[in-house]
Amino acid sequence: MTLKLPKIIGHRGACGYAPENTLESIKTAHEMGVEWVEIDVMLTRDLIPIIHHDDTLDRTTNGSGNVADATWEDIQQIEAGSWFADGFAGAKVPSLEETLELLIDLDMGLNLEIKPTPGKEIETAEVALDFLSRVWEDHDRLLLSSFSHVSLETAMDMAPEWARALLLEAEWLPNWKEIAGYLDAATINIDGNACTREQVEKIIDFGKPVIAYTINNPQRARLLQQWGVDAVFTDFPDIINEVLLKVH
Ligand code: G3P
Ligand code: MG
Repeated sequence: MTLKLPKIIGHRGACGYAPENTLESIKTAHEMGVEWVEIDVMLTRDLIPIIHHDDTLDRTTNGSGNVADATWEDIQQIEAGSWFADGFAGAKVPSLEETLELLIDLDMGLNLEIKPTPGKEIETAEVALDFLSRVWEDHDRLLLSSFSHVSLETAMDMAPEWARALLLEAEWLPNWKEIAGYLDAATINIDGNACTREQVEKIIDFGKPVIAYTINNPQRARLLQQWGVDAVFTDFPDIINEVLLKVH
């Protein structure tokens, strides 16, 4: 497996232009020429993996309450587009299964962020990897990531050869190298708005590619690239694409 990382990864699709984590958002990214997208996966009460970011439905849908309390049947009844813009009315919270189908059709790469609801760290990774293993063949264009070390450990146990990214919060864990080593992380994904040049250099010295979230400011994107960051997540792929050098 040789990870073929792009310079730009569309964040939750292209969520500056379309409602995040919907099929519409992924299609929008694709129309902009984006090669990879990052999306978040979590489980419904009946263990169906869906593409959604928050623990609750309130911000990005017309539903409410915890995702962990909703069934897939409930999720299918709700709408996830009009909060963003009237033109997206009717957009749905997609299942992982239908999302993978779309990504394969569009020939796109995927960073699947395993985003377990509290207490579902193992199950979320298990179910997501089970679905992936049935359909995803291009492992050079697949990166699994998580802030949850338990989810990453589960992914490692199930599919050691699939690339994993350790996600670090703005405040780094003092033992991040040890954790990245234990989890055999292929990349280190950091908060690119909070990080310093010294921090980026520490990861470069550690010998791993650096991916920075979430970079919507073109000057910041250029600076991070100069520091040696390999790729950025962005809500506005077209704007960031204009400023990044294609080789460095
Ligand atoms: O994976 C990068 C980024 O998406 C992590 O933060 O909160 O946007 O999922 P969040
Ligand atoms: Mg994410």
